[in-house]
Amino acid sequence: MCGIVGYIGNREATTILLEALKKLEYRGYDSSGVAVVGGGSDLRVVRSLGYISNLESRIKPTGATTGISHTRWATHGVPSEENAHPHMDGSSSIAVVHNGIIDNHLALKQELSGKGHTFLSQTDSEVVPHLIQEEYEDNGGDLLEAVRSAVGKLKGSYAIVVVHKDHPDMVVSARMRSPMVLGKGVNEGFVASDVTALLKYTNRFLYMEDGEIALLTRGDIHVETLEGETVDRELTSVDWAEEDAEKGGFDHFMIKEIFEQPQSLHQTLTGWRSDEEGLSRELLRARMMRVIACGTSYHAGLVGRCLFEKFTSLPTQVDMASEYRYANSTLDDSLVLLMTQSGETADTIAAAREARRRGMKTIAVTNVVGSTITRESETSLHLRSGPEIGVAASKTFTSQVMMMYLLSSHMGYQMGRISKDEHDAIQTNLRYVIRAVEGILNDVSRIKEQARWLSKARDAFYIGRYINFPTALEGALKMKEISYIHCEGYPAGELKHGPLALLTEETPIIALISDDHTYDKMLGNVGECSARSSPVLAIAPEGDREVKRYTDRVITYPRIDPLFSPIPISVILQLLAYYAAKERGCEIDKPRNLAKSVTVE
Ligand code: F6R
Repeated sequence: MCGIVGYIGNREATTILLEALKKLEYRGYDSSGVAVVGGGSDLRVVRSLGYISNLESRIKPTGATTGISHTRWATHGVPSEENAHPHMDGSSSIAVVHNGIIDNHLALKQELSGKGHTFLSQTDSEVVPHLIQEEYEDNGGDLLEAVRSAVGKLKGSYAIVVVHKDHPDMVVSARMRSPMVLGKGVNEGFVASDVTALLKYTNRFLYMEDGEIALLTRGDIHVETLEGETVDRELTSVDWAEEDAEKGGFDHFMIKEIFEQPQSLHQTLTGWRSDEEGLSRELLRARMMRVIACGTSYHAGLVGRCLFEKFTSLPTQVDMASEYRYANSTLDDSLVLLMTQSGETADTIAAAREARRRGMKTIAVTNVVGSTITRESETSLHLRSGPEIGVAASKTFTSQVMMMYLLSSHMGYQMGRISKDEHDAIQTNLRYVIRAVEGILNDVSRIKEQARWLSKARDAFYIGRYINFPTALEGALKMKEISYIHCEGYPAGELKHGPLALLTEETPIIALISDDHTYDKMLGNVGECSARSSPVLAIAPEGDREVKRYTDRVITYPRIDPLFSPIPISVILQLLAYYAAKERGCEIDKPRNLAKSVTVE
């Protein structure tokens, strides 16, 4: 997905714009570009196809201290230099970078062409500088007003940043349904589509909201609504360090993030205490729970369903955010959890709005303080996993799952459904979980060996029951998205209702075994698969002797209370996916066609 950086200050703009842009490389892109103003020259725009290093080789320091930069991921128009951002107006005075999609770009292009504008690219974005040019003349050369009037005519989603050759002392930015964050330094201002781009320069941020426009000058950041009302929002301090967004000696961000899990889980556990105190007792009136999320976060919600039902006895429904809008029940007064690590997933944000419109209480569970979901929900719970750069979620998933144990046991205890001892035992078990994860990470040789074998497969099934059925879904998703092996997660009991027909000696089964009331049935399912000559890799608790009667391929995890097994098993499945993908030579941190935060519905 596209990345944006803007800068105004006293330092060489190109250096900062390129350096910060490189921090967004992980999102995937096909071209990039920079525009600077001031420093003795008018407006300089340089664009390039391919890596940022190509762009860098074409840029020389100019002395300009104001500018914008962009990485593009093609939507309208093929990857090419002409289609790369920044785009300019007809008089080469205005440069714009844009994330999002302008739905009415064809109509606007037609209208502007009628007024003599010529377009040089196939993009929707190019209409924006032309529109601003028209408005600039109509507004007597006032850039802020010109941008305000121009964005008023746009339909769709946008995060834009604008510079003008006659205004090297200002950068203007506007946002609608596409993330944008402003950063404040000493006598300098920053703007970016993702906070990780700016961690080197500041930790003081202001997240823009939909329908806002910002004017950055060297000394100040001024934000207004499109209607002209001043926005007086406090800056948010983000405690992520610059190194958190770097690989630190690992080959990929994903493996670094997998190995960070003992620490991220510890942060979730200890950080929860401050969130817990702030939770309103009103939540305890809930008669039903609903978790709404997408992808991996949805799988964490499915683990949550088992826990809310167990600890609070409340019926719990889990919805994919993109489907929630079609839910019709008018008798629903659930407490809604919106689970999104990025806090920017468009479907989940739309679901939050819909839930509130239907009068429900909402809680966001997110890793990004100040992200859009935190403003769309009444209460927020913070995962504290640290920044996650790899497109495939790992540490944020296990933190989400941990948050499900914490919230459900808190509510269960407050509602009188579980005792203080039971509540405290859950906290103790969560500490054992962290130790179990450490144990797994201490020796990954067995996992690597099985991953080498799995990497040859074309299709595979992940099976589990009860609380490890969602773990199976997540394991399969992880493997498919980074290794491109076709995998399906299934409730083990469902195999015989159809998928058994697909099993052959070339279809590995990954069976998730926990020592609880599902144990005997899971062994039966393993036997069922072996009898169809499918090779089975069992993930089982240490010391299990039974499972070895069915298969030689076993990876064990430290023995803990089986209710808590989804976290250690998930870590094993993340490692399996990672090493299989590495064996296949895949682009692990940037899987094809995927983006870290999905900001379109
Ligand atoms: C898969 C993955 C995605 C995300 C999904 C929701 O590894 O990362 O499935 O879980 O796009 O993202 P968030 O949690 O940011 O709403």
